[in-house]
Amino acid sequence: MASISTQLAGIKLDTCVFNAAGPKDVTIEELEVIAKSSSSAITMKSCTLDPRTGNPEPRYYDLPEGSINSMGLPNLGYKEYVRFTHVLKSKYAKPIVASISGLKFEDNLTIFEAFNESNADIIEFNPGSPNTIGKPTMGYDLEYLDSSLKEITKICKNPLGIKLPPYFDFVHFEQVADIIKKHKVLYICSINSIGNALVVDPEKEKVVIKPKGGFGGLGGKYIKYTALANVRKFYELLDGKVQLVGCGGIYSGTDAFEYILAGATSVQLGTVYMQEGPSCFERIQNELVAYMKKKGYESIEDFRGQLKTID
Ligand code: DHB
Repeated sequence: MASISTQLAGIKLDTCVFNAAGPKDVTIEELEVIAKSSSSAITMKSCTLDPRTGNPEPRYYDLPEGSINSMGLPNLGYKEYVRFTHVLKSKYAKPIVASISGLKFEDNLTIFEAFNESNADIIEFNPGSPNTIGKPTMGYDLEYLDSSLKEITKICKNPLGIKLPPYFDFVHFEQVADIIKKHKVLYICSINSIGNALVVDPEKEKVVIKPKGGFGGLGGKYIKYTALANVRKFYELLDGKVQLVGCGGIYSGTDAFEYILAGATSVQLGTVYMQEGPSCFERIQNELVAYMKKKGYESIEDFRGQLKTID
């Protein structure tokens, strides 16, 4: 039996497939659905200092091969997610990933401090939301990224990863990799949704989501190749010293396989979880195992990062 176990930021994961921050992970009821599924970790919704109702609806829309959303960080506020780590830990033996997306620099410091007293196994800093009205995508402000990481790593006692927005230019990958190298960041999760896409309904001659005149983050199959490129480029630039988590358009075991080949040590499921529900975890894990078996691989380390180029 091929093994798809892995470790992330020093935390053992039974499989390399778990849920991405965002879809159906706001309430304790939703988190318990993930806890009971085959997801190998429980990732919670990105939290802010204060509770937020988020953007006006409709704010999520399924597309034939993905999704567009502009949720606007609806969440219960960080104190509830600190509490949820204790609730979940007392009932389930699964690693918990807390996602932090403070709207201000100082908010992040307060929230990170609070999570030191939590039962979170891993913290994912998320400066990549494109959907907060009136705020730019913070992961594109490299000075902000650098100074945030400098202060956050002083405070954070938990293993720390970062979820990054997609980059499209080699020079940006290099600049971001240089920043990541300076700080104690154990993994990069690439990518957040591709920001500010626009979906048009030609029949209605109208946009499909309400916030920001219809602009929102694109997810699903449309973004897989951009996400693979981000994983691969960071893998090359970081010389295996920082782990990569692939996120974007993983709908099958072979999608997961492609990400591992590009260098990822695990993958997160976002839109597919939204669309298929909790069965997606076991299905994709089984498909990955079957594909590895066909190839004669016994563990993900047998092929991780081994993507060939054309001479
Ligand atoms: C939201 C979207 C994101 O892509 C993200 O990283 C965090 C929050 C949102 O709109 O809720």
